[in-house]
Amino acid sequence: MQDFNYLPDNVIYLDSACQSLRPRPVIDSLNTYYTEHNSCGERVKYKWGKVTDAKVEATREKVLKYLKLKSRDYFVSFTLNTTYGLNLILSQIDVKKANVKHVVTSDIEHNSPFLASLSFAKSHHLPRTVLTRNEDGSVNIDDIPANSVVVLGCVSNLDGRRLANIKEVVKHIHNTGGIIIIDAAQALAHFASTLYKTEADAICFSAHKMYSASLGGIVCRRDLLPVLKTTFIGGGMVDDVNLDTFELSADNPDHAYTKFEAGLQAWGEIIALGTAIDWLSNLPKSAHQQLKSNSEELFNFLNNNPKFHLINHEANSTSTFFVEGIDSHLIGEALGDEGIMARTGYFCVHYYLDHLKHYPPLIRFSLGFHNRPDDIAKVIERLSRLA
Ligand SMILES: Cc1ncc(COP(=O)(O)O)c(C=O)c1O
Repeated sequence: MQDFNYLPDNVIYLDSACQSLRPRPVIDSLNTYYTEHNSCGERVKYKWGKVTDAKVEATREKVLKYLKLKSRDYFVSFTLNTTYGLNLILSQIDVKKANVKHVVTSDIEHNSPFLASLSFAKSHHLPRTVLTRNEDGSVNIDDIPANSVVVLGCVSNLDGRRLANIKEVVKHIHNTGGIIIIDAAQALAHFASTLYKTEADAICFSAHKMYSASLGGIVCRRDLLPVLKTTFIGGGMVDDVNLDTFELSADNPDHAYTKFEAGLQAWGEIIALGTAIDWLSNLPKSAHQQLKSNSEELFNFLNNNPKFHLINHEANSTSTFFVEGIDSHLIGEALGDEGIMARTGYFCVHYYLDHLKHYPPLIRFSLGFHNRPDDIAKVIERLSRLA
C-alpha cells in the first residue's frame, strides 16, 4: 500500500498487535503539529493554540463517531495506553458508593486487565472470579455475580477471538448492579464493529495498535461519573483552587474529559489519532479483502500442517502457534534473520498460555493493512523449510 511505501522490500513486519505501522498521513499529521502549530491545547488563546484546540476537539468527536456512540452518553479522555487507562479508571471507582461486592475477569486476558483486576480486588479485599472463555470468545453470564466490577477484553491478542456475546454480557452486568470496563486494545484497528453502540461503562484503548502514534484513550459513560473519585489531580483539571479546596472542571459536562487528563497532554499524538481514524474509516474495500485473504492463507497453512499447534479456531489477523520440539525463540530469530519480524513468548498472557494450558513459548504473527500477499508467501515458504 502506498501509505507504507517507506518500508524496504526485504522487511516483513508481523507485529501489528503490539504496535501497528503508521501510514504516511498519520506521520504527516504529527509532523504538521510539530512544525506548524506546536502549542498547548485547551488553555492557549494565541493562533496556534486555536488550531490545536480545534483538532483535539475533532479527535474526541471522531472517536465517538467511529464507535457509533453519542456525546450525550459518553466522553473521551486521553491517557498513555490501555494499561494506564484500565488502572486509572479502576483506581477511581468508589467501591462503597458503587456498592461493589466482586471483581471479575477472564482466563484469556492480557496481563493488563488480568493484573489490574487482581490488584483492584486485593486492595479492596474483594473476591475475584476468573471466567472461562468459550471457543467463540463468549463468557457464561450466569457465572458473573451481582454487583461486580467486570474487566474483559473484547478481542484477544492471541487469536483475535472476540467477546461474542458482548451485548448480552453488558446487559446482564447492568441488570445486576455491576460495572463493565472493556479492554479494547485489539479491537479498534480491525474489529471496531464489535463495540458499535455498546453500552459498556468504559472502553480503554491504545492508539498505537490502531495505526496511530503512541497514545491511550478512555471512552467513559457519563453516568459512571458519580461513582468515580479523583485520584490523580493537577493542572488542566480544575476551574479554581483555594488554600485547601478546589473546583473540578469535570463537574461541567462539557469538560468531563478532564476527569482523566492530569497535566499537559500529548497534543500531537491526539491529533494524529484523528487522522488515523479518518484513514481507517476511508480504507478501500480491497484493503480489508487483502487483510482477510492474507489471514486465511496463513491460517490454512498453519492449520493443515500437523507440526504446527495453532491456538486459533478461525482465520484472523492474529495467529499464535508453536512447533512441536523446536524452541519458538529460535524460530523467531531465524525468521528475523530473513527480515520477518514476528513475536515469540507468552505475549503478556502468562496465566492462560503458561499456567492454564501449559504451552511452551509460542510464535505470534499479527498482520496489518501494510502486508502484501508476497509477504505471506515468503513466510509460508520459510516456515515450510524450518519445519
Ligand atoms: C488485549 C490487550 N490488552 C491490553 C494491552 C496493553 O496495551 P498497552 O501496552 O498499549 O497498554 C495489549 C497490548 O498488547 C493487548 O493486546
